Amino acid sequence: MTITLGRAALVAAASTLMLSLAGNLQAHGNVTPQAVDTTALPDITGGNDAWIERDPYKGNAAAIKIGESAYNQNCARCHGIEAISGGIAPDLRYLELGDSGDEWFIQRFRHGSSRDGKVYMPPMGEVLGQKAGWAIRAWLETKHTDD
Ligand code: HEC
Repeated sequence: MTITLGRAALVAAASTLMLSLAGNLQAHGNVTPQAVDTTALPDITGGNDAWIERDPYKGNAAAIKIGESAYNQNCARCHGIEAISGGIAPDLRYLELGDSGDEWFIQRFRHGSSRDGKVYMPPMGEVLGQKAGWAIRAWLETKHTDD
């Protein structure tokens, strides 16, 4: 009887530990991209098979709203709330406005960044799609600063 109780207590303690470990992992290491509903936005000819280099949603209010939520779900954990970096990843408010900023942005969004076998940023293009990428860019441009 005593032995049975002891084991039960041990099992309970072990599973509590596992639960708290799992909780920690979710808080810090959740890298599963969260789907973004972009059905409200105009389609991009060619979809994900033909990536364009200029933001078609620049200044589009609906896109900016969708982009903000897409950013919060997929980028903020590294690039910071409101695009204000806490230092882990570059501060995206400083991305250049306009065409050259668009090109650099979409390149990183699509392919992420890896060097010497280390992934600094995971690729997002295939999973989230081009429409979500340009919506995020449209929102980021509203947060731009030169300071
Ligand atoms: C796991 C952390 C992480 C996530 C999530 C992440 N990034 Fe990044 N991102 C980085 C890091 C780190 C760099 C710098 C890469 C380097 O040093 O080569 C970077 C670089 C960039 C750059 C280039 C910035 C510059 O100044 O050159 C852009 C643009 C960018 N990320 C956009 C995004 C967007 C948009 C998302 C969400 C869809 C996102 N990132 C999600 C970590 C992340």
